[in-house]
Amino acid sequence: MNNKEIVAKAIYDVVKEDLSLENVTQLLENPKSVDHGDVAFPAFSLAKVYRKAPQQIAADLAEKITGTDFEKIEVVGPYLNFFMNKKMVSQAVIGQIAKEKGHYGDSSIGNKGNVPIDMSSPNIAKPISMGHLRSTVIGNSIAFILEKIGYTPIRINHLGDWGTQFGKLIVGYKKWGSEEAVKTAPITELLRLYVQFHEEAETQPELEEEARAWFKKLEEGDEEATELWQWFRTESLKEFDKIYSMLEVSFDSYNGEAFYNDKMDEIVTMLEEKHLLQENQGAEIVDLSAYDLNPALIKKSDGATLYITRDLAAAVYRKRNYDFAKSVYVVGNEQSNHFKQLKAVLNELGFDWSKDMHHIPFGLITQGGKKLSTRKGKIVLLEEVLNEAVELANKQIMEKNPDLPDREEVARQVGIGSVIFHDLKNDRLNNFDFVLEEVVRFEGETGPYVQYTHARAMSILRKADFTIDETKEYALDDKESWEVVKLLQKFPEIVMQAAEKYEPSVIAKHAIQVAQAFNKYYAHVKILAEDEQKESRLALVYAMATIIKEDIRLLGLHAPNEM
Ligand code: ARG
Repeated sequence: MNNKEIVAKAIYDVVKEDLSLENVTQLLENPKSVDHGDVAFPAFSLAKVYRKAPQQIAADLAEKITGTDFEKIEVVGPYLNFFMNKKMVSQAVIGQIAKEKGHYGDSSIGNKGNVPIDMSSPNIAKPISMGHLRSTVIGNSIAFILEKIGYTPIRINHLGDWGTQFGKLIVGYKKWGSEEAVKTAPITELLRLYVQFHEEAETQPELEEEARAWFKKLEEGDEEATELWQWFRTESLKEFDKIYSMLEVSFDSYNGEAFYNDKMDEIVTMLEEKHLLQENQGAEIVDLSAYDLNPALIKKSDGATLYITRDLAAAVYRKRNYDFAKSVYVVGNEQSNHFKQLKAVLNELGFDWSKDMHHIPFGLITQGGKKLSTRKGKIVLLEEVLNEAVELANKQIMEKNPDLPDREEVARQVGIGSVIFHDLKNDRLNNFDFVLEEVVRFEGETGPYVQYTHARAMSILRKADFTIDETKEYALDDKESWEVVKLLQKFPEIVMQAAEKYEPSVIAKHAIQVAQAFNKYYAHVKILAEDEQKESRLALVYAMATIIKEDIRLLGLHAPNEM
């Protein structure tokens, strides 16, 4: 039971006739200041029932509630302030973490249900952008979080490997490209061709027509077009994989847009059979005015299919193939309308599972407040950013701990981790500016700070030669440790909240809070002092390190034991 449940039960036991347990629970408050205890109950709502002043009711209740759960119950005006029995709670929490270790907070709510997570999904022949980085790390963390509560995540990279841009690339390659250049630096070269195409097309609009014709050929299976497409795809994937291995993210499927080429006819037929398709200036659309949405464009007048047509096929394929409990799409906020349309069309088709599809949007990463864009070639190359982060981390470790064994690996974990952590610590819908020096700092609310706190705890445990014993009872009752204990106790709720909201920042914020509380504890208390509470203090350090490491794991970072 958590503290609120314990308090609710204690109050309920004495007001049974007048309030339900649920009512009592709803009324409970978290006091703003620690001086007002751990949980507060305002007695106002009982005033009518008892025909007494709330102050008097509070005083009466305080007398009636007995037992060992509380150190004291203070009456302040109409409020009852409950101070939990720190010894009991800390013993329970530390004991449970000692037993369950990293599994503390696990649950089986998900019933092993499959959850495909559409994440990363960059476009072939273009560099992975910071936006794709966001989708990758948010998706990866959501996968870990859902797994912790019993779901089976399936990481899907819905590659943008189809579309009119391939027509442009083929034209660009044939006019200005070289095999050499594509082989040595595929993405750089393909991006160059793409950018050049757009520049030249400004003065030679006929290029657009050529590009359309090549894409048409590709759709029809023309050999030359297909070969070039396949080659661009393979080379680009090799490049993406470098980033994924740096981030340590892997995928269960790379079925991208092209995979659905032969699966769209069925969807179009279904739409026809249900009389959902309308002709509009030669194009085929589904009217969605009943949903207050623009019509979904299913086929262009030249017969070409669209992004949404492929997403319809993908959604149906995922339902059939995975029989998902829910289907998650981690894609930027700017595509919100697309996903609304997608769900609406599936709903029109009579697929009631469309309600289990969730678009998880996120905000932009900006630089100097401006959006990053590929069109004009202004793109932050993710690989460079990650490498620089590792270098910066390495520099700081050299200063702090020059003899660290494994320094390079730790620098890698800290540098890459800092970029991931920075991405995940803010509510995902917020836009944020990216300044590398701030991301890799060892102080403040950063990944390195959290990792450093974990490493510091591990070093204390090493120094003390401490191993946790699940059969022992560890208990603490000082107010410094209490702040840490309360945060550890909250962890299972934190995991649930993060899962319900698809919000890794809930975990990241918890990690920061635990780190801050622990560092305060460390500053105020002599952990290694030789007295009878030493073992319990070390057990708390162990419990803290275990939970912070689990927080970090759920975000997709490592927690080095030394740094
Ligand atoms: N490739 C797209 C882009 O970069 C994202 C794809 C998202 N997933 C999807 N099923 N539509 O914008």
